[in-house]
Amino acid sequence: MLSQQTIDIIKSTVPVLEQHGVTITKTFYKNLFEKHPELLNVFNRANQQRGRQQTALANAVYAAAAHIDNLQAIIPAVMQIAHKHRALGILPEQYPIVGENLLGAIKEVLGDAATDEIINAWAEAYGVIADVFISIEEDLYKEAEANGGWRLFKPFKVAKKVAESEEVTSFYFEPEDGTQLPDFKPGQYITVRVKVPGDEFTSVRHYTLSEALENNQYRISVKREDACEPNGVVSNYLHDQVNEGDTIELSAPAGLFTLEQNSNPVLFVSGGIGVTPLNTMLQTMELGRNVTFVQTARNAKSVAFKEQIEKKVNELNGTYRVHYSDEAGYIKKEDLAPFIKENTEVYVCGPAPFMKAIISIARDLNVSGENIHFEFFGPAMSLEALANAN
Ligand SMILES: Cc1cc2nc3c(=O)[nH]c(=O)nc-3n(C[C@H](O)[C@H](O)[C@H](O)COP(=O)(O)OP(=O)(O)OC[C@H]3O[C@@H](n4cnc5c(N)ncnc54)[C@H](O)[C@@H]3O)c2cc1C
Ligand code: HEM
Repeated sequence: MLSQQTIDIIKSTVPVLEQHGVTITKTFYKNLFEKHPELLNVFNRANQQRGRQQTALANAVYAAAAHIDNLQAIIPAVMQIAHKHRALGILPEQYPIVGENLLGAIKEVLGDAATDEIINAWAEAYGVIADVFISIEEDLYKEAEANGGWRLFKPFKVAKKVAESEEVTSFYFEPEDGTQLPDFKPGQYITVRVKVPGDEFTSVRHYTLSEALENNQYRISVKREDACEPNGVVSNYLHDQVNEGDTIELSAPAGLFTLEQNSNPVLFVSGGIGVTPLNTMLQTMELGRNVTFVQTARNAKSVAFKEQIEKKVNELNGTYRVHYSDEAGYIKKEDLAPFIKENTEVYVCGPAPFMKAIISIARDLNVSGENIHFEFFGPAMSLEALANAN
């Protein structure tokens, strides 16, 4: 239980942290990796270099600090992070390491302004916040282990590798220990851990389960990230070097981006590889619910799962539209307006600028915030952060 004095100190230092947040977390990561290079086995170096993870952690720290006397209010945000932490295999004993380096970075950046009183208050508050994460994550580990699941990573055999489009390839995995795989909720992801030849550290990435299979296999569908230098590490490794019969380590399904089970109309809007969670959700729907699927891709060569989606939408008496941005430009308000009815729930997944545009259109069309569901294929962003993303 934190004292009122500690709470007051924490709350009064939130603006200071906001001002120096990114500098503090940059310093934090630099020191953390210098002292604990083994943590580079779990952190995505591309996210570090692009500054994405710095922002995510900074935002989480502000949110926690601002609600330190009512942590209940941030539980939904904690849940989302905890799912990712559990999928990555983050352990309780790593929290003090992060805490120590975070406090060290606050001291280093704030200098004399970081009095002992402030540092002690933050140490106490961090302990309370860490305990919330550790306890929620332990529940998720137990959940992952239940029903034939497993706790951390385990080896899977690549049973099949299938090209879906010019840039998307599916991988089918079956457990090497032959056990029954636990069910997952459509929209959830599994996490791949690989050691790319020539790389000192392992690389860990999340991939949506792109089909609900009944033969004790999991399927993921991976887009090759080769448009920018340096090319994406794991997607290119999977495409070029992982073949049928190879072994890959996976952690159990995780994630909260799943289809709400109600009778409201559904509008799915996918951008590129963001089709994976939405297609898995669609494939498990039953007749009776009004459904529209707007699939966008650059062109007919890059689009994936088009026939499968169209077929299922027809079976559900729904509406399917494909939108190629090379020909038709970006989606406009009038493209989505006909599909927004009372209580329509909008599910969006795609690149950040795409999601920003679709969410803003949905809001303009009076869809309430709680009826807009989205998954970001990188460190999660709030709706607000997304609205400001480039
Ligand atoms: C919940 C979730 C579900 C996901 N589902 C899927 C899915 O179903 N299918 C799928 O394909 N992906 C999915 N992803 C994305 C996936 O996890 C990976 O992020 C993606 O495959 C890229 O990983 P990578 O290792 O190839 O690229 P990384 O090495 O992580 O690089 C990412 C991008 O950054 C660029 N980059 C690297 N270094 C720099 C630098 N220094 N400066 C600037 N740019 C740089 C790379 O060119 C690349 O485009 C999902 C992500 C999440 C969080
Ligand atoms: C209270 C303490 C912590 C907070 C507030 C926090 C917050 C966050 C947030 C907001 C994200 C981004 C989530 C997303 O991708 O959507 C994240 C991701 C992550 N966290 Fe934590 N975290 C904490 C502790 C830890 C610890 C102890 C570790 C273990 C070393 C850790 C390792 C990671 C890793 C590896 C990622 C994925 C980042 C990437 O690779 O880009 N975190 N964390």
